Amino acid sequence: MHLFQGAILTVIWVSTLAAEIVNIPLSTTSDHEENLRRLARHRRSSKSAPVPAVLKLKIFKDAQVYGPITIGTPGQVFNVVFDTGSSDLWVPSIHCRFWRNGACRNHNSYDRESSRTYKSVGEYFNVTYQAGDVFGHLGKDSVTVAGIRIENQTFGEVIYEADIFATTLPDGILGLGVSTLASSRQPTVFENMVSNGMLPAPVFSFYLSRSESAAVGSMLTLGGTIPELYKGNITFVHVTVPKFWEIRMDSVELAGGRGTFCQGGCDAIVDSGTTLIVGPMRDTNKLNKKLGGSRVLGIPGLYILNCFSVPFLPDVDFIINGNRLTLTSAEYTIKVTTKFILPFSEYHLNPFIPV
Ligand SMILES: *[C@@H]1O[C@H](CO)[C@@H](O)[C@H](O)[C@H]1NC(C)=O
Ligand SMILES: *[C@@H]1O[C@H](CO)[C@@H](O)[C@H](O)[C@H]1NC(C)=O
Ligand SMILES: *[C@@H]1O[C@H](CO)[C@@H](O)[C@H](O)[C@H]1NC(C)=O
Repeated sequence: MHLFQGAILTVIWVSTLAAEIVNIPLSTTSDHEENLRRLARHRRSSKSAPVPAVLKLKIFKDAQVYGPITIGTPGQVFNVVFDTGSSDLWVPSIHCRFWRNGACRNHNSYDRESSRTYKSVGEYFNVTYQAGDVFGHLGKDSVTVAGIRIENQTFGEVIYEADIFATTLPDGILGLGVSTLASSRQPTVFENMVSNGMLPAPVFSFYLSRSESAAVGSMLTLGGTIPELYKGNITFVHVTVPKFWEIRMDSVELAGGRGTFCQGGCDAIVDSGTTLIVGPMRDTNKLNKKLGGSRVLGIPGLYILNCFSVPFLPDVDFIINGNRLTLTSAEYTIKVTTKFILPFSEYHLNPFIPV
């Protein structure tokens, strides 16, 4: 699930986390880097050492956040989606050139011959995502994320990937799900960081901001949360199925009593690698109609909104463990420019789509 500006999504591995709220004046005029430096300085000077590692994320097509990692020695750089909805790490292999496949187009590719720390596993690697498949070899190498280096991390060297990934993904995916879901059955990068004692707490958190030019841009924090970046208390909720971060959601409500969905509760996964908010067709169609959406012909369940109506649309509340988590219309819509209807006209896409 993709959350928007100002929303913080925190997944708690074990349910103990004490966060002291302090006020750091974040400048709204200076840039993101400067604010990160201020946060880092503050945290170094505070008593709560060791500090979590923070990785700045970028936005891909107003829809996907991603950031850099390195694999190998010397490090080869890849941009990956940090995906709580899957548990494998993979990047394209240099050998996919042979297949003239999407995997190699516009993407960095991994060359095992150039890494001193590469080890072959001698097994195939194969993951099926909703959007398509990837296939390749399993290898082991050093992986560095936000300055934290894991040795002998199992990952996929992909030689085939579905064409759609050539244009919809940065180089690869780093799964932040639980390794029971991993096709390799090996510990994830995050699990290895936790078991090697490299993090101050077994926690990771995202701060998502829509605008890359915002004073504080999107970031992934490994080992904690940044209390300066949120108000109020963190909502704790039990994971019901430890594969995805699957939780029980109480309901989804359109503000002002204009509609209740997922009535009586439903199971949901918190998926940082998905752009849209996905639910049963019956519910998403009803919700989209209540918001005044128009159907996109040929794509069942997809609706667009008149841009002028967006500021007047009601909030959508996600009720989780009795807590009301609110998205405003500016947060739950995506602005798209399309030439399909009128040349280069702007629309707002409603992100509620059917399973
Ligand atoms: C990938 O895995 C699926 C399910 O385990 C299997 O059916 C399929 O044959 C595999 N594909 C390859 C190319 O290994
Ligand atoms: C990584 O694996 C190699 C050989 O398989 C081993 O010699 C080395 O000690 C391992 N490194 C770590 C940090 O586990
Ligand atoms: C946060 O939790 C504390 C302790 O449970 C409580 O006293 C406080 O009112 C809560 N704050 C908010 C904003 O809910």
